[in-house]
Amino acid sequence: DKGNHRHFMQKEIYEQPEVIGHTLGAYVDLTTGRSRVPVGQDLSFSNVRRIAISACGTGFYAGLMGRYFFERYARIACDLDVASEFRYRESPLDDVDLALFVSQSGETADTLASLRYAKEQGLATAAVVNVQESTIARESRYVLPTLAGPEIGVASTKAFTCQLTALAALSVRAGVERGVLDGAAELELTRALAEAPRLVNEALKLEDAVEKLARDMATHRHALFLGRGFSFPIALEGALKLKELSYIHAEGYAAGELKHGPIALIDETMPVVVIAPHDRVFEKTVSNMQEVAARGGKIVLVTDASGAAAKAVGAHSTIVLPDMPEIVAPIAYAVILQMLAYHTAVQMGTDVDQPRNLAKSVTVE
Ligand code: F6R
Repeated sequence: DKGNHRHFMQKEIYEQPEVIGHTLGAYVDLTTGRSRVPVGQDLSFSNVRRIAISACGTGFYAGLMGRYFFERYARIACDLDVASEFRYRESPLDDVDLALFVSQSGETADTLASLRYAKEQGLATAAVVNVQESTIARESRYVLPTLAGPEIGVASTKAFTCQLTALAALSVRAGVERGVLDGAAELELTRALAEAPRLVNEALKLEDAVEKLARDMATHRHALFLGRGFSFPIALEGALKLKELSYIHAEGYAAGELKHGPIALIDETMPVVVIAPHDRVFEKTVSNMQEVAARGGKIVLVTDASGAAAKAVGAHSTIVLPDMPEIVAPIAYAVILQMLAYHTAVQMGTDVDQPRNLAKSVTVE
């Protein structure tokens, strides 16, 4: 049932404040602000120094975000692979303490094969998974639930932001257990995460402005998405959403990589979506924007109030979110890019809930 929404995807985009809240509740005691591993899981990070993460598609981008979170907040080094490569890479795994898988369906063949491979190698396994009765949930040593509820739209939306929520909170838990974060730092981070539902609501309020952008986006055949630091995984996910829904050729890049090749693509006809909250790398991203502006590229800037006030280059259009703590920003920014992809697809008349050639759960390798 789509309720008042035109598509399941739109309905699922709007469910996010609620399901992010539910997911967070599994990882944070919201009355005390203390982080925790979900009930029934005896997973401890005290002796975890290296995590090998693998997943596919959107789950892979959540995994990349997980790497940034675990490295920043828990000082745990993370390897990261698309699951279809992990098994075949013959990477030495001797110093890996935990193999972590991210999957909405829990049935993705490549991810399942990687999980089985990790077990054969004698690794402890954990899965961030949305379908609790799935094969991946059954076969993993530790099950780390996302509570997004059933996701019908083929393009993942609420499962992704719930994966980000779970991984962010887990990284805080890991930081505490490893003595990287003290009680005050833990509380500051969990309080920031508790703002996620409200901040996603703020992002949803920008739908009309995003729809306007989408009308322009629909006139293009190509687009670039740039982000740096915590915004890099979000840029990659934004490009994936746009390409799978609207069939516009979209590429995500680390903003700093632009000058190493993709800048050759920039002319007046190239939309460049720049994800740039006013964080520790904002100034660097602004210089990358200047490189785009100097070549006439059509910049769509997604930033916050401080970023909008500080930015020195003229963007073609700007979406302004409220200022927010760094740990929660990826969740809210992802929602803007979901709406951009959604409205571009609606504009172009593609099948939003069932994009061509895609299946909800990919059970072949
Ligand atoms: C993109 C999308 C896919 C899935 C991928 C993994 O919107 O939905 O890229 O993320 O096929 O699926 P799960 O998470 O079920 O393992």
